[in-house]
Amino acid sequence: MKLSRILSNQNGVSRKRANALIATGRVAVNGQVCRDSQNEVSEFCAVGVDGKAIQQARPSRYLMLNKPAGYLSATVDDTHPTVFRLIDSSLHDGLHIGGRLDRASTGLLILTNDGNWSRRLTEPKIKIPKVYRVTTEQPITLETHQRFAEGIWFEYEQLTTSPAQIEEIHEREARITIYEGRYHQVKRMFHAVGNRVTSLHRERMGKIQLNDELPPGQYRSLTAEEIASV
Ligand code: URA
Repeated sequence: MKLSRILSNQNGVSRKRANALIATGRVAVNGQVCRDSQNEVSEFCAVGVDGKAIQQARPSRYLMLNKPAGYLSATVDDTHPTVFRLIDSSLHDGLHIGGRLDRASTGLLILTNDGNWSRRLTEPKIKIPKVYRVTTEQPITLETHQRFAEGIWFEYEQLTTSPAQIEEIHEREARITIYEGRYHQVKRMFHAVGNRVTSLHRERMGKIQLNDELPPGQYRSLTAEEIASV
């Protein structure tokens, strides 16, 4: 929200008065004077006028979970346990998932209460690489490499997926990099070439790599560097 709007949301402060307070250096964002009334200020910033707090900074949270199989990427469900069951309830407020994994899929799941940040992580246009280790029922053919590199037509969305890369590990095992996160994307891509995914594990999103030493079901906070990388 614009800084002037935060001020004018206060009782009895007009937009004109808000702009005047900002222009005269009486408003601070995170302790620093800010003279730009158009500055975008998130809920994670503290705002003060003449040293008096008018917005407390909400604590931002960025977590990496090593998702085990069997947990739903959802907040609540009547039938299956959700990944939120693995996260301390004191951290749940405003927390949401940045890029879901299917119930059977495992690996890197990112949770945050920062909606702008998670939008950047998952927005297909931004093309953040998502890396999965995949095993398949049938051998992964050269034709699959070519078809994935050309992009696969998704009838439902009426679009062609961005070119994806395959790095072969064994005949039926590979590392695949995709740049969107469409519904069941990897499974649908393999289905389109007559194959079937038997296991799927997300290793990386952009520069955020799942730690080998983080056991399934455990989570940790992202580092400042990881957060800034998105
Ligand atoms: N693609 C899938 O098909 N499933 C996932 O869980 C993630 C990507």
